[in-house]
Amino acid sequence: MAKTSLESLFSIKGLTVAITGGGGILCSEMAKAFGDLGCKVAVLDLIPEAAERAAKAIRDNGGEAVAVGCDVLKRDSVMAAADKVVSAFGKVDVLVNGAGGNKKDATTSPEMSFFDLPDSAFRWVFELNCVGTILPSQVFGKKMAERKAGQIINVSSMSAFRPLTKVSAYSAAKAAISNFTQWLAVHMAQEYSPTIRVNAIAPGFFLTEQNRFLLTEKDTGKLTARGQKVIDHTPAGKFGKPFDLVGGLVWLMSPSAEFVTGVVVPIDGGFAAYSGV
Ligand SMILES: NC(=O)c1ccc[n+]([C@@H]2O[C@H](COP(=O)([O-])OP(=O)(O)OC[C@H]3O[C@@H](n4cnc5c(N)ncnc54)[C@H](O)[C@@H]3O)[C@@H](O)[C@H]2O)c1
Repeated sequence: MAKTSLESLFSIKGLTVAITGGGGILCSEMAKAFGDLGCKVAVLDLIPEAAERAAKAIRDNGGEAVAVGCDVLKRDSVMAAADKVVSAFGKVDVLVNGAGGNKKDATTSPEMSFFDLPDSAFRWVFELNCVGTILPSQVFGKKMAERKAGQIINVSSMSAFRPLTKVSAYSAAKAAISNFTQWLAVHMAQEYSPTIRVNAIAPGFFLTEQNRFLLTEKDTGKLTARGQKVIDHTPAGKFGKPFDLVGGLVWLMSPSAEFVTGVVVPIDGGFAAYSGV
């Protein structure tokens, strides 16, 4: 292969990217990296101010970004957001389905048994993580099918491979996301175009709002027993930093991954590989 082709193997410059949950801790870091690498970035989030904060950080760094308020659980909202992104950038090359999370009410604890988990909390977590990825994939995926080009990257979790204790709704939903990633990869390739790729990343443990209450003590910030267990079970010996997710994403988005579709890539410091023995 010519040297110039090799040099562009990992380039994502010029791609237009829409990222849901883009105002959040992990996805705002991803969005910023996409902007720094020359992508046009549409930051979608339920909280418009959070989306604008992330978009502004990209623009302040000399990149191109728009903020779009969007509720991934409402089809009208996602359709309106997709129209805004297309009118800003002309097309969407990559959709990153980042919106997701867990909440305390859907988490078992000494105070909350599995039998008493409110179904409203279970539904909230399941829908956000599962339906909240499927709906944008329908709306943005349709535009990709029409163009016979595009990529979707989902965000799964360690709890998809083997469920984590306490978080049943979250685990079920993320397992569904890994499964859906494979399903949609096959569907898009067979029904619309083999150039449309669908993949996922499965982050290990990153301290964010969805898990801080589980992994650290509120008052002291020290690790809980569960937090320590996670570290002990992570061969890298630490939590990830949001930026650790960027390399894997860039690889999936770049020409170097042209033959990669339907995979779920763990970015986890080895957590998924370790049996504990
Ligand atoms: N933190 C971790 O250790 C970890 C591990 C594995 C996977 N993940 C996944 O990574 C993704 C990002 O997580 P994070 O830790 O940065 O969370 P976060 O809470 O910081 O970010 C989530 C963002 O999604 C937005 N959001 C929530 N509901 C929405 C909706 N209905 N429509 C649009 N946006 C909505 C929130 O406003 C927030 O900005 C999630 O899918 C999460 O499940 C996180």
